[in-house]
Order: sequence, then structure tokens, then C-alpha cells
Amino acid sequence: MSAILRLSGLRKAYAGVRALDGVSFEVEAGSITGLIGPNGSGKSTAIDCISGFQKLDAGTVTLAGTDITGRPAHHIARTGLMRTFQTVRVYERLSLADNLAIAAQQFDPATWVDEFLRTRRYRQAVEASERRARELVELIGLERYYNAEAGILSYGQKKLVALAAALMPHPKIVVLDEPVAGVNPSRIREIEVALQQLNEAGETFLIVEHNVEFITTLCHRVIVLEQGRKLTEGTAAEIHTDPRVLEAYLGMTPEMAEAEMRGAA
Ligand SMILES: Nc1ncnc2c1ncn2[C@@H]1O[C@H](COP(=O)(O)OP(=O)(O)O)[C@@H](O)[C@H]1O
Ligand SMILES: [Mg+2]
Repeated sequence: MSAILRLSGLRKAYAGVRALDGVSFEVEAGSITGLIGPNGSGKSTAIDCISGFQKLDAGTVTLAGTDITGRPAHHIARTGLMRTFQTVRVYERLSLADNLAIAAQQFDPATWVDEFLRTRRYRQAVEASERRARELVELIGLERYYNAEAGILSYGQKKLVALAAALMPHPKIVVLDEPVAGVNPSRIREIEVALQQLNEAGETFLIVEHNVEFITTLCHRVIVLEQGRKLTEGTAAEIHTDPRVLEAYLGMTPEMAEAEMRGAA
């Protein structure tokens, strides 16, 4: 077992609000790990701090043995930690192929000089990027749209394109912020299957989600946050039957907590 991402003692306060109050956990290479918790428990703050979009007050973040604590977001991305956002970001008027080519170019060593001179290095980079794009589009089940404008896709499918774009530079891990928020319930399964296929192909994910049903279906391991602290962690089955998790999700009746955990609220 080897941890690709190691978080230790994360602390972050906003004007007196302890958003993260000493959170530690690890993500194993090759796993799908879930981070859940009720609204306001610190999930977004955790991923913002991990990916360099917020500064931690204390704690350390280690990616594949490299300390990335406090590094700027673009540096963390280049070190191999990519993230997706709750709201989708795709180029609607461009094809899936072009969306992914652009994503690769941002990380490509080939400079505009190479491009101008049409060097061998440039051609090789373009070929490698095309192979990667085709492979990813197939894994997310959208190969028939490879040359179609991204704008014609459903919201859930656009989220998958944004995920494929994040995967273009071969990151060590992708952190997903609420991948099924706002997605039509009939299309959630599509996202689940895509994530499973990508994981079987070797990709590692940390998924932040409010929908516990989705997380427990997909994740090998689940971390539960409550009020900026780690309430518990375990396998999906352990988390699903843990009375503390149900209680954290509402502190009301088990039926209401169950409904909330299914993402019905
Ligand atoms: N920019 C901010 N300024 C002030 N308080 C914030 C800010 N972002 C989050 N918080 C507070 O920090 C706590 C954790 O929020 P957040 O990380 O967004 O939780 P979650 O994503 O689990 O809903 C909440 O009490 C929230 O109100
Ligand atoms: Mg949030």
C-alpha cells in the first residue's frame, strides 16, 4: 500500500470559523477515495487547500513524496495533482478533440518555436496528445462525439469532458469537486461507469461529494468530515452503516438522514 497523497494536520480558519480543524488522511495510489460530510463540514476548503486555491494555516500536503504545502496552484498541477470544479468549464464551440488538445498544450514542453519549425518533437507531442485524447474519450464513453462540438452534450457529459481534460497531462491524482451536483439523476450512472473505467485503467481519484449513495457505490475508502474534523473513515460498507455518520448528516430521524444521504435534499 502506498499513499500518493498524504494530508497531515490541515488547519484553516475564516474569521474565527474553523473550517478545517486538524484533518489528516491519505489517498492510496490506484484508488477511488471519497470525502463526504454535511454542508459546511469543510470539504470545499479541504480541496481548495490541497490544490493551492487557498492557503492553509497549518498542516502539510505531500504528493508522491514531494511536499507541496503552500505551493501555487499551477505548480501543484504540474507536480501531478489536477482538480475539476463544481461548475463545468469546457469550450462549447470546440470539438471534444480540440478541448482535449488545448488541455494537453497547456502542459506540453513543445514551445511555439517548435510549432513554427514543425520539429520532430512537436509532431511527437501532437501524436501522443491525440492518442491520449482518443483513449480518454473512449473510457468516458463519448467516442461517438469525438469530433462533435462540446456544446451539444448534456451537462453530465460536459463534466466528463472536463474530467478528461484534467487527465490529459497524465496527473498522479485528480480531485473532483461534486461530480454529480446538478447532473440529471438519470445520467449519474454514466458518470459512475466512466469513473470506474478510468480507475480500472489506472487513474487515482479523490472525490468530494454531497451524494453519499454515489460515493459509497464507487469508492474503495471514504473519509467523513464533520465541522472541520474527521469524524471517521473506512470502507464504503462501514461508512454506510455507521450510526455516527447518519447522525452527522442531520441529527434527525434515520429516515430523513437516509434521504439526505441519497442526495434527495
Ligand atoms: N470564504 C469563506 N469565508 C468565510 N467562511 C467560509 C468561507 N468558505 C467557507 N467558510 C466556512 O467554513 C466552513 C466550511 O465550509 P466549506 O469548506 O465550504 O464546507 P463544505 O464544502 O463541506 O460545505 C463553513 O462554516 C463555511 O461557512
Ligand atoms: Mg462545498
